[in-house]
Amino acid sequence: MLKIIAAHDNEFLIGNKNKLPWNIKEDIEHFHKEIEGKVILMGRITYESIKNIKNNFKVKKIIVMTKNLNYDPKDSDILIFHKIIDVLQYSEKEDIYICGGSEIYEQLLPYTKEMIITEIKGIYEGDSYFPLYDNKEFKLIKEKKLSDQAIVKYLSRIKKK
Ligand SMILES: NC(=O)c1ccc[n+]([C@@H]2O[C@H](COP(=O)([O-])OP(=O)(O)OC[C@H]3O[C@@H](n4cnc5c(N)ncnc54)[C@H](OP(=O)(O)O)[C@@H]3O)[C@@H](O)[C@H]2O)c1
Repeated sequence: MLKIIAAHDNEFLIGNKNKLPWNIKEDIEHFHKEIEGKVILMGRITYESIKNIKNNFKVKKIIVMTKNLNYDPKDSDILIFHKIIDVLQYSEKEDIYICGGSEIYEQLLPYTKEMIITEIKGIYEGDSYFPLYDNKEFKLIKEKKLSDQAIVKYLSRIKKK
């Protein structure tokens, strides 16, 4: 199964110059807790932006997507995928947490069964956005307040009849 984990502001902004537009410690802690022991996947650009801190991630495996067949992540533990079909096949055996960024969310959202979305209050400056989606396709399972600035929504795709 594919699960998206993301944080966006009131206007669905997720990034600014390859960084998060905000620094909210409660959300960072929440992110680390949710991905602990899990297989996570991200695009090459997001990977490059976090690779110096990736050892703080207590995950089972990191998968990076790139179209570059010669890409060297400089870490033999990183699994590289070049195609969406590789992600879909892997996720039949094991859940994958999709950790962004914008391009990766956009392409994998149609296959995603669950989303863990932190809504960050306010309008920030930036250049990367979460894809627009029909919120009638998802139902709210649970809500958790992290701080006055951040609320987490656990969403599940409504099965088609
Ligand atoms: N707020 C949040 O929750 C959150 C989470 C994560 C990231 N972000 C932000 O998102 C921004 C980055 O997003 P982005 O869209 O620029 O980059 P991205 O999605 O992280 O990575 C894009 C790269 O992924 C690879 N890729 C994309 N589609 C592919 C496919 N179908 N097959 C194989 N490889 C594929 C390509 O790598 P190659 O160019 O190597 O081919 C592409 O350049 C940053 O600002 C980051 O801080 C925010």
